[in-house]
Amino acid sequence: MSEQTPLVQSPECYAPGWSTTQTPCRGLGADCTVPCEASSRRWVLGFWSEFVRCSLLGLLLSVLALPAPLAAETATAAWLRHACLRDPSVRQRCDALPATTVALGDSAVVSTAQGELIRGVRGMLGRTLRAEARLPKESAVVLGTFDALQAVAPASKPPTGLAEDSYWLKTTTLNGFPCLIITAPNDRGVLYGVFALLRRIALGQAVSPLDDRQVPYAPVRWVNEWDNLDGTIERGYAGLSIFFEKDNVVDDLSRARDYARLLASVGLNACAVNNVNANPRVLRSEFLPQLARLAEAFRPWGVRLAVSVDLSSPKVVGGLDTFDPLDPRVGEWWKEKFDEVYGAIPDFAGVVVKADSEGRLGPSAYARTHADAANVLARALQPHGGLVFYRAFVYDHQLDWRNLKNDRARAAYDSFRPLDGQFDANVVVQIKNGPIDFQVREPASPLFGALEKTNQAIELQITQEYTGQQRHLCFLLPMWKAVLDFDLHAHGAGTPVKALVAGKTFRRPVGGFVGVSNVGRDRSWLGSHLAMANLYGFGRLAWNPDLTARQIVDEWTRLTFGRDRRVAETIDDMQLKSWSIYEDYTGPLGAGTLTDILGSHYGPNIESSERNGWGQWHRADHAGIGMDRTLATGTGFIGQYRPPVAKLYESLASCPDALLLFMHHVPYTYVLHSGKTVIQHIYDSHYQGANEAEELVRQWKSLEGRIDEQRYADVLACLEYQAGHAQVWRDAVCNWFLRTSGIPDAQGRAGDFPSRVQAEAMRLDGYRIVEVKPWEAASGGKGVECASATGPCTASFRYDGKPGWYDVSVQYFDQNNGTSRFKLFVAGQLADEWVADDTLPSRKMDASSSTRRKVAGLALRPGDEIRLEGFPANGDGASIDYLEVHPTLRDALGIPARRRNPESKAF
Ligand code: GCU
Repeated sequence: MSEQTPLVQSPECYAPGWSTTQTPCRGLGADCTVPCEASSRRWVLGFWSEFVRCSLLGLLLSVLALPAPLAAETATAAWLRHACLRDPSVRQRCDALPATTVALGDSAVVSTAQGELIRGVRGMLGRTLRAEARLPKESAVVLGTFDALQAVAPASKPPTGLAEDSYWLKTTTLNGFPCLIITAPNDRGVLYGVFALLRRIALGQAVSPLDDRQVPYAPVRWVNEWDNLDGTIERGYAGLSIFFEKDNVVDDLSRARDYARLLASVGLNACAVNNVNANPRVLRSEFLPQLARLAEAFRPWGVRLAVSVDLSSPKVVGGLDTFDPLDPRVGEWWKEKFDEVYGAIPDFAGVVVKADSEGRLGPSAYARTHADAANVLARALQPHGGLVFYRAFVYDHQLDWRNLKNDRARAAYDSFRPLDGQFDANVVVQIKNGPIDFQVREPASPLFGALEKTNQAIELQITQEYTGQQRHLCFLLPMWKAVLDFDLHAHGAGTPVKALVAGKTFRRPVGGFVGVSNVGRDRSWLGSHLAMANLYGFGRLAWNPDLTARQIVDEWTRLTFGRDRRVAETIDDMQLKSWSIYEDYTGPLGAGTLTDILGSHYGPNIESSERNGWGQWHRADHAGIGMDRTLATGTGFIGQYRPPVAKLYESLASCPDALLLFMHHVPYTYVLHSGKTVIQHIYDSHYQGANEAEELVRQWKSLEGRIDEQRYADVLACLEYQAGHAQVWRDAVCNWFLRTSGIPDAQGRAGDFPSRVQAEAMRLDGYRIVEVKPWEAASGGKGVECASATGPCTASFRYDGKPGWYDVSVQYFDQNNGTSRFKLFVAGQLADEWVADDTLPSRKMDASSSTRRKVAGLALRPGDEIRLEGFPANGDGASIDYLEVHPTLRDALGIPARRRNPESKAF
């Protein structure tokens, strides 16, 4: 049969061509290392084009009330696009801005602040402010620390007692001229003040009169990157490292600089650049000059460099025969090492330590405590003002799963609570938000409420390890807020986690927020435009955890996508409900992860958590599910909370549904507060979540033409992929629980797929039938794989339904060990062809490689042959799971899924 061009057009047109536009979700350009801002020629061109675009064209368009052209976007600028503001009323509000800006003093950070102000105002308003170093005899935006301001304007009265990094935006009169001063106790604060002013301008808020004093909630606002020195990133989903390659720091640090700028713009002040599973080489003398280059790249942005260190360094790097923290030679080694580090990097921020965890060496090797280990580092850092972040992520990963009293959730509290009061003043215990490991739903770690004489910081994971790996939309702010606002009753009622970690409750000198970010070389930093809301949101929340998730996302959306109200409302809505949607189609009722915990942590693999020592058990069997963590009959974990919280969780009557299976083991027939049985909840939530994932695609499509094409297409590809993978999750989980419990879905959906034709039931030529492992990863537990190395192999069947317009979805396995190809024919005519070149995290036919190609708008007639040809390559067997045929109309006009209030679930 000849390969022809498609000749029928779907009633719902997709441009270009006739199938949905499907670029791989991760096709954003992983190796773009030089942002356009880096080239001075481009800068000059960029300036003029910006000027013309913003001043002349923009005004003309707004006068004529024409829609603005949607310029292509380099996602590199993220929320710092400083896009031209065309709305005359917004521009008018900025008329009060002076034409001159003064940077007082000789601080590099204040000078950065001045550069940022000029750049931002030029981008948004098309005006280039004059840069001065002294107070001019005219109105000016005056930038400087309190001291610098007082030196030139003794009459100015900066507020007293403001914490480091705070800032004050104040319209006032200086030398007889109206001025806007941006001042702060330290130079970083001035930079933060400038970013705050630019944010105001971008959001169309008033810039005069101003009297805005902002104080960060906590001094620690750090990010951790899990970059390996070879350039790979542990749990990084956006390409290779921007800091390292081939065991060295990269030559071109322009991305590192741009990243520091992004961090500074949301008030983040330090970055630990290497993996917590630290390579000791990071402390070798010959490596320090390289680290110093990185620190230098960060410095103009007020971002201090930190590193993760390995506790065995005195032995591995220093050549001692021990790393016993109480051995004086070890103490001396650390002291000399940090003296050397500070010689190279005077503003070095400190170190992060992972010890006695997941195979890392630690103080237990010498029967010493974590306090001993932390303090030996702390004493060496103390003279220089450095901090030790000692991670509480300490647990035994070889727990006996047969013992029902064993519980990994207990580990952090059991290890650190007895040491409260033994840590030096410059040690911060870094605690993950929940007691397990960044799951989609966990209670707040009880350790936050148990340390009264120890500094602490909360560790939140921006990189979406267990929450869709940036391929699925999952805005984490609602989850983080739920933890931060949770009242642990640590000092009576009214002690939320945020107050504890900031050191407010027990008056600790230092504490705050750490986000595991793992940005990469992808030009969109996190490999997904929409995922950047999590990085932005982390910074904003660390600055002020009292902001709501809605406020934060709305800021982010408008900064990233502009001021079109419909765009903002749609994206805000999608983001705010996305965590709940993801939770619905992945993990029910706090059961813990149902993913492949022994592999990529991505697709479903229900039993991967069970019968091994990692302790992420959900203990689902034929009768029931959940970890019994009660005091009465379980592991006693609930007893780690203060009595009011323990009481809430201990009783089935008061335990919130959302955490039921984290705290209790119950039969599938147990009736929730919602009135549903546990098993029916599992079926319903998975269908609800998958339907809502489809709805996200429809919502996004409603924005076509309102967003630049590149970002529109990138996000659409991600969302379409997500909708397909949500179905993989839904089916795997529902099928597994259906078979295990034997209890049918009251709505008859689970296990019943009338529109589906299994690949193994088709006529096969060259394909062989394969049992997929785990069985729930494939529909019917089986798929087909091309038996020859190059194919083609074919799978076909006769369509016997009514004539009409249909969408055909091909569910296939896109393994990352090769790039197979597919062709779909209908009645002998080529309908679509594609290359399976996504980089999904699996080399096998499983639920991580399972993906969908949807070919929309096919005119089918009874008796038509639907035939798929697969061309395998390099071990990727062009494998297929099934095909589904759905009427186009039903899909296109489907009734939108019920709207949900994203913040409504009890925690
Ligand atoms: C998770 C993650 C690891 C990481 C660890 C940690 O377990 O999967 O890759 O090293 O957390 O936080 O130390």
